[in-house]
Amino acid sequence: MLIFLFLFLFSTFLHCVNTEGKTSVPAIAKYFNTKGRYEEVNPYLIEDILAVNTSVLQPPSAQCREIHLTAIIRHGTRYPTAKNIKEMQQLYNIVLYNATDKHMWLQEIQTQWTMWYTEDMDGRLVQKGRDDLKHLAVRLSKLFPSLISEEKLRSGLIKFITSSKHRCVDSMLSFKAGLTEQWAIKGTDQEFDHAVNDALMRFFDLCTRFVEEVDKNASAVEEVEKFKQGPEMRRVQQKIADRLGVPYSLITHDLAEAAFYLCAYEFAIKELNSPWCQLFDEDDAKVMEYASDLREFWKRGYGHDINSKSSCNLFHDLTDRLDKAAREKKLGQQVTEAVTIQVGHADTLLPLLTLMGFFKDNDTLTSTNYATQTHRTFRTSHMLPYAANFLLVLYDCGNGDLRLQPLLNEKPVTFPGLSEISMLPYQEVRERYRELLQGCDFETECQIMD
Ligand SMILES: *[C@@H]1O[C@H](CO)[C@@H](O)[C@H](O)[C@H]1NC(C)=O
Ligand SMILES: *[C@@H]1O[C@H](CO)[C@@H](O)[C@H](O)[C@H]1NC(C)=O
Ligand SMILES: *[C@@H]1O[C@H](CO)[C@@H](O)[C@H](O)[C@H]1NC(C)=O
Ligand SMILES: *[C@@H]1O[C@H](CO)[C@@H](O)[C@H](O)[C@H]1NC(C)=O
Repeated sequence: MLIFLFLFLFSTFLHCVNTEGKTSVPAIAKYFNTKGRYEEVNPYLIEDILAVNTSVLQPPSAQCREIHLTAIIRHGTRYPTAKNIKEMQQLYNIVLYNATDKHMWLQEIQTQWTMWYTEDMDGRLVQKGRDDLKHLAVRLSKLFPSLISEEKLRSGLIKFITSSKHRCVDSMLSFKAGLTEQWAIKGTDQEFDHAVNDALMRFFDLCTRFVEEVDKNASAVEEVEKFKQGPEMRRVQQKIADRLGVPYSLITHDLAEAAFYLCAYEFAIKELNSPWCQLFDEDDAKVMEYASDLREFWKRGYGHDINSKSSCNLFHDLTDRLDKAAREKKLGQQVTEAVTIQVGHADTLLPLLTLMGFFKDNDTLTSTNYATQTHRTFRTSHMLPYAANFLLVLYDCGNGDLRLQPLLNEKPVTFPGLSEISMLPYQEVRERYRELLQGCDFETECQIMD
């Protein structure tokens, strides 16, 4: 009995802590899609959450100076939605009342874990999410010290825009707090306004054609449904049922997803490698990841043209600002909109990245090509963790030489279809996107044609 107790405690201990005394990371943590932790895409942050590597930015000459920055940022770590929480509760009941297997980790769920998620948590930002944005603000100010500076903030040259959703507004407040706390700006001085703008940050709700043809249309995501009914997913569900010792019929796709989310949320919110993670091996996690990528592909990505076109206003908003900054620079004036910080959703970022051609694979993602898509670049686990961010930085390299640097999650990326140099002349980038710059009209794209 004593030995049993000891083993039990020891295995629990092993779940939470690795040999260096740090929280252990679930083996499947890199497959959590949009439920992934930001640290998984930038692992150096696990050591030091405020670390920046300025040498990733390599301007063509030493005289290059950053003159404008637009940052489009996803909100930080959040609670599950009410719908997910209902499914988690169902799965928990199955583990409590129907599971027959006797694994240690299963007993751990049955005797020690409690269902602490409640439906009123509905997608709100958690403390870790506030920290995500605070830390990001500090890192960006270290990466671009002449743009995200106390002086620019105090003189109103940093503009803040957010989606109206509570988790986004709270993320925005945390981002600003990250700046004001680091510069010890206190009291009424601290009130730097932000604008709420859903036309920009939640454009997907306002694009009628997207809503009718994709969002409310089950056939628009039929590949996702087919994959959920397919052999790869069935195998994952069976393996989960085997691990629990329950009939196969009990574990539906939605419950498999709930199990995956439980592991993901316990880790993202509480930094726990919870016993729920034992329901999956890495192969299973890759299948779960694909199902979710498939959904994003058809609902927000390349699957339907209107998905990306719904972001036309956001695209013009940021390119207009770049143009204005470039114009002011050419006229020898001060750049009036030095920095714009915009907080939105994964659903805000993905259509924009798609519109600009990022992460486009040769082949369409479908229900039948899971195996050949192993090396796809369209991977939301890499692109869209909590606090994901897309930055465009305009540099002035003297003598009218303006350069544009895109970064995703603080790492330089290259504009698709252009040379591998990441800091290209601004005019070349404008040329690359000429069609979009001259067209991409939200009203036209989003109206329903008869
Ligand atoms: C910083 O980035 C450079 C260029 O990408 C890389 O060579 C270097 O190893 C990085 N340094 C650290 C400490 O990560
Ligand atoms: C699961 O357990 C519940 C509660 O004991 C019971 O009502 C239900 O029939 C069980 N389901 C299966 C498939 O065993
Ligand atoms: C729903 O999606 C399918 C597949 O993309 C499309 O053929 C159909 O026209 C759409 N239905 C509506 C009402 O837009
Ligand atoms: C995609 O297609 C292009 C042109 O056919 C080819 O050169 C390239 O290697 C392909 N990429 C992958 C990853 O298959």
